[in-house]
Amino acid sequence: MRRREFLAGALALSGCAPMPQSYARDGAPTESLATRARRSGRWFGAAIKSRQLREDPDFTAAVARECDIVVEEYELKRGTTEPKRDRFDFSGADQIIDFAQEHRMRARGHALVWYAANPDWLEPALQAADHAGREKLMLSYIDAAMPRYAGKIAEWDVVNEPLEPNEGRADGMRQDSMWMRALGEEYIDLAFHHARETDPNAMLFLTDYGVEHDSPRCERRRTAMLKLVDRLMARKVPVDAIGIQGHLKPFREGFNQDIFARFLKDLSDRGLSLSITEFDVADRGGPPNPDKRDREVASIGKAFLDVAFDNPATQALLCWGLSDRYSWLSNFPDYKWPDGQLSRGLPLDDKMRRKPLWDAIGAAFDAAPAARRQASPRSHNA
Ligand code: G3I
Repeated sequence: MRRREFLAGALALSGCAPMPQSYARDGAPTESLATRARRSGRWFGAAIKSRQLREDPDFTAAVARECDIVVEEYELKRGTTEPKRDRFDFSGADQIIDFAQEHRMRARGHALVWYAANPDWLEPALQAADHAGREKLMLSYIDAAMPRYAGKIAEWDVVNEPLEPNEGRADGMRQDSMWMRALGEEYIDLAFHHARETDPNAMLFLTDYGVEHDSPRCERRRTAMLKLVDRLMARKVPVDAIGIQGHLKPFREGFNQDIFARFLKDLSDRGLSLSITEFDVADRGGPPNPDKRDREVASIGKAFLDVAFDNPATQALLCWGLSDRYSWLSNFPDYKWPDGQLSRGLPLDDKMRRKPLWDAIGAAFDAAPAARRQASPRSHNA
């Protein structure tokens, strides 16, 4: 696969061959992305919300058609599931997992330990507890969530977004985190060891964002991620895989395939599996013409995914949403369009029609070498 340098805004001029349109304009069904992913031994899917399953049959049908793996966009986060201490509401996640079971899909759990989306009662409780009490407060959520979905959720984001070099720590760790404040970096060790004991059959992921682009910001994050992984491996922490979120912003930062490929190899050479767990493309700042913007979004998507799937350790691609009808990008201040138009960073438009990005994802799967798929934990880390 040819490696190319992609500069923001020059994407459409980068000599990319136009995407072969494998979707019929009239919407006639062609092979789904999950089918094309499976040919290279990979999963394709998306983040969903239970409300979409209850209220939007078009969207639900699109998920059933295109996906064979799903993840909860917010309904397994502790702020949603444990609004009051030891009072749980897993109803949203239950509906998503029931849907996955009904459609024989793999499922991800997102996320057991995160610095964000926690209930208001948690940090004061951490501050009032002694060290043992703080550990218990973190592990109690693992005890509540993992067994409930044992055998149904095959892989968990055990620790999400532990890095933040912008906060100034030499090791690039996120200091502004209730977990770092309460337990120090060893919160990660504790979370992974407990998760392994709680569900020995689940694949355990460490996930983060901002490692994709050719920018000083992303280079600092890649360096911090590799150093963290080496410390965790030296301490025999049972991390099976790295989740690279894949929130691209091509109209703000460049992309260099060789740089990203080298990072993925640095991770897979350490024996880790990889997944792209939250893929989308922030299109604000792209061409005003939606068709032209769609083509540039597809071009960066293909360039990124060609590299990701070139590495046999990459086993899955999940988009952070499947349709522009429901993208978080359309509501997030940094990415939303000032005129209120929907972001166009997902493979289906707001009417569930396949876009050039859908073709780009399919073409990347079609061209991908076989994955070294690891559906369960690495033996030597058990
Ligand atoms: O659905 C409830 C609604 O009933 C309630 O009235 C309302 C009150 O605030 O909240 C609604 O839930 C919101 C939920 O999204 C569903 O829309 C939550 O407040 C809101 O915090 C939640 O935001 C999610 C955010 O993570 C925080 O959990 C976004 O949907 C989700 O896209 C975003 O996803 C994160 C990943 O987990 C980690 N990586 C970055 C990514 C994007 O920020």
